[in-house]
Amino acid sequence: MPGINQTSVDEMLRDAEAAAKAGVGGIILFGVPEAKDSVGSSGWDENGAVQSAVRELKNEIPDLVVITDVCMCEYTDHGHCGVLKDGEVDNDATLELLARCALSHARAGADVVAPSDMMDGRVSAIRRTLDADGFQGTSILSYAAKYASAYYGPFREAAESTPKSGDRRGYQMDPGNSTEAMREVLSDIEEGADAVMVKPAGPYLDIVARVKDETGYPVAAYQVSGEYAMICAAAERGWIDRERVMLESLLGIRRAGADLIVTYFATEAARSLRAGTTT
Ligand code: PBG
Ligand code: ZN
Repeated sequence: MPGINQTSVDEMLRDAEAAAKAGVGGIILFGVPEAKDSVGSSGWDENGAVQSAVRELKNEIPDLVVITDVCMCEYTDHGHCGVLKDGEVDNDATLELLARCALSHARAGADVVAPSDMMDGRVSAIRRTLDADGFQGTSILSYAAKYASAYYGPFREAAESTPKSGDRRGYQMDPGNSTEAMREVLSDIEEGADAVMVKPAGPYLDIVARVKDETGYPVAAYQVSGEYAMICAAAERGWIDRERVMLESLLGIRRAGADLIVTYFATEAARSLRAGTTT
């Protein structure tokens, strides 16, 4: 993935400092563990990469909002977002494991946990677990409308989370369906999500707008790896102006109604917005 690398905790701190200095309000962490197994047990290791990174971040840059991605796919040896039973993802058995991961992030000091697995019922399972352990103040940003998208390719390679067999269409959403997105969003809100995310962003701006209009809830949009990579690639070839297209792509997401944008351009965009060099 162009310009995006797996980093050690130390390198991550430097990136986070640069982001904070540029004016980025928060960052989201994804973990790549040393060892994977069938249930993804490294996901709730209190000394795992994400947990250690959160502790360092909260020590070094306390004002930067730290969000952690909560999913099993980086931690399972089969690469699916939940545990498998007879070759299929077992929704209900996965909930407890997700809650365990989220709790370990909260204990490390995460401000926000962001479940991206798309299992049904995970927001309430996570909320219950966090509350029971005294983490009522930890927020949940749910990836509520997450489509089964071809735009995730570069991320899966970078995070080593491509499923070994099958695909994610059993739990991610059908790109042709917008009513289902509203059902997913409403149920996550009901279960206690503090903000809901639409993913990808650019090809799903209608969903961003609809979620914002119909719920009035804080809406996040995730400009995913493929959206980012396409802009980088075209700019590298000299076909488009990188800075202007980057800002225009983000402006479109904002115009659609996103209150918060997750993007690989964050530091770069913040710098160029501050410099005010483009229209
Ligand atoms: C997995 C996860 C995905 C992304 C982040 N976490 C998608 C997937 O592989 O299904 C994609 C992010 C991106 O493409 O930038 N739960
Ligand atoms: Zn996943």
